[in-house]
Amino acid sequence: MKKRLKMGLGFKIGSNRSRLVFVILLAFFILMNFWMLNRIQDSGHHVVVKGLLFKSKLFKSTTSHSSQVNLPFQEELRKIAKGKKPHKTAYKRLLYKAAHALAENQYKSTEPKDLWMEPYHAVASTWQPCADQRVWKPSEGNNGYIMVTANGGINQQRVAVCNIVAVARLLNATLVIPNFMFSSVWRDTSQFGDIYQDDYFIDYLKPDIRIVKELPKELQSLDLEAIGSMVTDVDIAKEAKPSFYLKFILPLLMKNRVVHFVGFGNRLASDPIPYHLQRLRCRCNFHALQFTPKIQATAALLIQRMRQNATHSGVLDENLVGPFAKPKGKVKKDLRYLALHLRFEIDMVAHSLCEFGGGEEEKKELQAYREIHFPGLLELNNTSKIPSSERLKAEGLCPLMPEETVLMLAGLGFKRDTRIFLAGSHIYGGKSRLNALTTLFPNMFTKEDLLSSSEIQPFLNYSSQLAALDFITSIASDVFAMTDSGSQLSSLVSGYRVYYGGGKMPTIRPNKRRLADIFMKNNTIEWKVFETRIRKAVRQNKRVFSRPVGRSVYRYPRCNECMCN
Ligand SMILES: *[C@@H]1O[C@H](CO)[C@@H](O)[C@H](O)[C@H]1NC(C)=O
Ligand SMILES: *[C@@H]1O[C@H](CO)[C@@H](O)[C@H](O)[C@H]1NC(C)=O
Ligand SMILES: *[C@@H]1O[C@H](CO)[C@@H](O)[C@H](O)[C@H]1NC(C)=O
Ligand SMILES: *[C@@H]1O[C@H](CO)[C@@H](O)[C@H](O)[C@H]1NC(C)=O
Ligand SMILES: *[C@@H]1O[C@H](CO)[C@@H](O)[C@H](O)[C@H]1NC(C)=O
Ligand SMILES: *[C@@H]1O[C@H](CO)[C@@H](O)[C@H](O)[C@H]1NC(C)=O
Repeated sequence: MKKRLKMGLGFKIGSNRSRLVFVILLAFFILMNFWMLNRIQDSGHHVVVKGLLFKSKLFKSTTSHSSQVNLPFQEELRKIAKGKKPHKTAYKRLLYKAAHALAENQYKSTEPKDLWMEPYHAVASTWQPCADQRVWKPSEGNNGYIMVTANGGINQQRVAVCNIVAVARLLNATLVIPNFMFSSVWRDTSQFGDIYQDDYFIDYLKPDIRIVKELPKELQSLDLEAIGSMVTDVDIAKEAKPSFYLKFILPLLMKNRVVHFVGFGNRLASDPIPYHLQRLRCRCNFHALQFTPKIQATAALLIQRMRQNATHSGVLDENLVGPFAKPKGKVKKDLRYLALHLRFEIDMVAHSLCEFGGGEEEKKELQAYREIHFPGLLELNNTSKIPSSERLKAEGLCPLMPEETVLMLAGLGFKRDTRIFLAGSHIYGGKSRLNALTTLFPNMFTKEDLLSSSEIQPFLNYSSQLAALDFITSIASDVFAMTDSGSQLSSLVSGYRVYYGGGKMPTIRPNKRRLADIFMKNNTIEWKVFETRIRKAVRQNKRVFSRPVGRSVYRYPRCNECMCN
């Protein structure tokens, strides 16, 4: 959110000028398209000649029932370009080159050296988890009871839970097991105990705070709203400091014996926080939250199936799925998988104010969505100029499109047969928007693909529990790739991999500004150059650094409070 707010200011581009630019761009684009179509057909023949060797295997699935066996790349491209919306042709030329490169690489035994490893392993491995170490006495929780009803999706709720744990300790309060708010977006009635093992949570944190399952009887009848003990997000600034809680919440707690936080999204600052309180937050996130056996068992199935029944588990499976993990050991190279969180759902897409190549139809659809869900954004547009979508893109503020994602993966050197777990749901534009991805990397699976209908049935009405399956399967992957670092799931997953990964669990976190720069050259750049630039941009973002001040400990646990160095 912070990032989004920033962008409303500072840019001033006259709308007339941008309209003119747009018209010119459009004309240019039409010309370019025409020219490119010719080129693609030309090079199509070219590739057939050059690619005779690999053709048969690569295009097995698409050509077996096709009459145009001698024009395989056209067939591939047609598949990519299937559908009526113009965005299906975005990056046609580069996708084409990527398909070519993937076909060639298929028979090479080597992948780029660092592809499945942390390039800065030596530094990264000096950080070890130690948030489980305590030096204090348990708080008796005598100052009263804290209740919380956390809003948002499962990942926001996870953050809220660990923040409230810290607040309870700060105020010497007893925490009532958190509630989860029903949201019209996620439509999930799951409560804390449906997702996490509540007894484990209570016991694990016993040396820190007192947690109870229910408010004592005599307090249950209080009308919290009437006595002023209902505290909503309107009453607390974002990233509020501990001093706020001591000054305003503690007296309320002492007076009424109970305070109920409703919402509680992002309401505790990352800094400054006393050392041991910060450590408690980490302890909560990385140690105290164990998923229920129902979720663990099914997530273990997913991991197993992604690893094709490997006999051993990965580095941190046990932390996630507990008793359902296979014995620890080395997972064979060809059983590895990559998890991809493609954050390209309509809320993200609409909120970004970017364009994704879908023309007028897309524009209308997204605008309608904004009117319903983000009226504040449109209001902002009335008072200050929102930068053009080109500008946003150049600044790295647009989520990666599926086409850009597949180009990034191909550019990094992942082989065509790489097994990919696709996390997330409801890709904007539907399944067809994934054509480029599934065509170039056919071994792509979602949880729905991997589970039988009876296995997934118990989860179907519970989007948070489904999201937990994605969360676990992504964390356990050998490489995790995110497309938007602002996403809560991506950020929690990468933090978890840092915490338990021992510097061996790489995360691909694209620098979107640099990527935008590279993608701008889509019409001219050579594939080799593209590869080199992509690899450099991604590698740079894998550098190991300790948590910057003000950043989340859940995402950047490399700090003395959470990890020992
Ligand atoms: C909480 O308890 C500790 C230890 O008894 C005490 O030092 C601290 O001042 C208390 N804090 C509050 C806010 O009551
Ligand atoms: C994994 O095991 C299951 C059940 O034992 C079996 O049906 C499946 O074919 C196996 N998969 C692989 C890739 O070996
Ligand atoms: C923005 O301004 C237009 C008129 O210029 C008005 O119709 C619209 O309701 C305003 N939108 C918001 C969200 O304030
Ligand atoms: C913002 O306002 C400009 C002109 O007032 C308009 O062209 C543009 O479509 C608006 N953007 C959004 C996202 O509503
Ligand atoms: C999901 O909920 C709907 C209505 O709330 C119900 O009709 C349906 O049976 C439920 N499905 C499952 C799989 O529980
Ligand atoms: C592709 O390159 C052209 C310039 O050659 C540029 O105008 C266009 O914005 C690029 N496309 C994307 C989606 O970046």
